Formats: sequence, structure tokens, C-alpha cells
Amino acid sequence: MYQTLLTAIDKNILTVTINRPDKLNAINRQMMDDLNGVVHEIETSKNIRGAIITGSGAKAFVAGADITEFQGLSKSAGMAMAKKGQDIFARIEQSEKPIIAAVNGFALGGGCELAMACHFRVGSVNAKFGQPEVNLGLIPGYGGTQRLTQLIGKGRSIEYLLTGNIIDAMTALQYGLVNYVVPSEELLSKCVSLLEVINSKAPIAVAKCIACANAVFDEKNNGYDQEIEAFGHCFATEDMKEGTKAFLEKRKAVFVGK
Ligand code: COA
Repeated sequence: MYQTLLTAIDKNILTVTINRPDKLNAINRQMMDDLNGVVHEIETSKNIRGAIITGSGAKAFVAGADITEFQGLSKSAGMAMAKKGQDIFARIEQSEKPIIAAVNGFALGGGCELAMACHFRVGSVNAKFGQPEVNLGLIPGYGGTQRLTQLIGKGRSIEYLLTGNIIDAMTALQYGLVNYVVPSEELLSKCVSLLEVINSKAPIAVAKCIACANAVFDEKNNGYDQEIEAFGHCFATEDMKEGTKAFLEKRKAVFVGK
């Protein structure tokens, strides 16, 4: 179905494996289109409650945008490339269903940006993050200057943007760039177990939490106002009635996503 991605679904969780291991999973144009397609699949498939994005092979999550496609680009072509990448990564960030990055090695340039567009990140012990575009006379173009600053703070972000230095897994943990660092062989199972917990909750409440957290960084929306609207919206759902009733009846709630 996709030329550059492998997908597998189990227990309502879609695992997306970026699959260009001989190029350390670098993101080319085809992969950008495939990522757009897979986000659409996540958004629309009733079988999918959440997703994991990881990289093929032991070495890399994604080692960046495919540098071979940069040569000879004009200013307007560069801008179009950044706009397209930003739009697709924004769709990941705005997905109503949780998407976790399972970072299994290099997450550089566009790979770091892809991981940061996911709702949160889990790293293996060999995870390595960085925005090394400055080494190419370039800057991040798929939201990296914004999301790195959101996630690790302005001073640290500017340091790493300007030096292109690599952030190792334990430093990423300390900075809050990853939520957990686990042995490589436990990376996917850790993400699956987190999604199983999330998938046991009310889907509309999950979607509203994501949207309201995203609103913190959205100048067009007041997050507090959005929270008021979302909170009220939940009262009109079957799942909220079921959740509160189940609590009072001392039983586990059964949510239906309505
Ligand atoms: N774009 C295109 N090809 C890439 C790539 C990228 N971002 N990153 C890696 N590759 C390719 C290499 O060219 C090489 O291809 P080849 O075997 O046909 O020569 C293959 O992937 C393996 O990479 P290699 O550099 O040999 O592996 P390494 O272990 O020596 O180094 C990295 C790993 C990640 C340090 C190194 O590949 C690198 O610096 N990549 C670019 C990172 C970057 O600048 N990303 C931001 C891009 S905007």
C-alpha cells in the first residue's frame, strides 16, 4: 500500500515502520506522500485507536530529509517543500488519535522533526536527536525550530540549532524530549503498553486532551476557552455518563467512543 512504509495493525494499534534502512530511513518525496496517506488512514480507520511510528533497522529512526533531493532547489521550491512537510507533520500533531514516536536510533533533521510532531516520544538507549541542518547551510524546515523550542526551552533549543550537536538518549530524557528511555528490545512493547492504557479510556476525552494541549502553542485559539468548550462537550457524550456511573457503581467503565 505504501512504497516507503510498512504497516501492521494489532489490538487497534497501527505500527508504522519507516522503511528505507539502506538510507537510514531518510525522508524523500515519496515518503512524505506516504506519511500523508498513513495519517489519513489513522484518522479515518475505525480499527485504529492509536499509532506508533518507528524506523526500520537497528541504527536509525530517520536520519533526516533526503539530502540528495535538496540539490538545485530554488527559494520557492524550498519554501514549497517546507510548507508541505509542515502541513503533514501538523496533521500528525493534530491527530485525534494518539501517535507515539518509538525512536530507535538517529532522529536527525526531519527525523527529529517527525518525532517531535508525534504526541510524545519513547527512546531506546541508542536514540540520538539533533537538528544538524546548520552543517548544510540550512535550517530545519518541517517545524523543528518551533517544536524543539516548545519541548526543551529556548536556550537549549537555540544552542542545539546553532551547534547541530547531537542530544543523546539520557540527555533527551533529562530535557523532556523523550518520556522514557528503554532497552532497544523493549521499545515497541513499551509503546504498545502505553497505548493500551490510553485505548482503555474514552476516545472523545482522549481527542479533546490532545486538542487542548496543542492549543497552548496555537496563537489563533485560546486554550482555556477551548478547554471550557471541550469540557462541556464531554458532558454530552455517552462515555462521560458511563464513566461517572461506572465509578459510582465501583466497576470498570466500558467506553464506546460516543
Ligand atoms: N539523506 C540522504 N541520505 C542519507 C541521509 C540523509 N539525510 N542520512 C544518511 N543517508 C545515507 C548515506 O548517504 C548512506 O548512503 P550510501 O550507503 O548510499 O552512501 C547511508 O544512508 C548510510 O549512511 P552513512 O552516512 O554511511 O552512515 P554513518 O553511520 O556513517 O552515519 C549519520 C550516520 C546519521 C551520522 C550520517 O548518515 C549523517 O550525518 N546523515 C545526515 C544527517 C543530517 O544531516 N540530517 C539532516 C538532513 S536535513
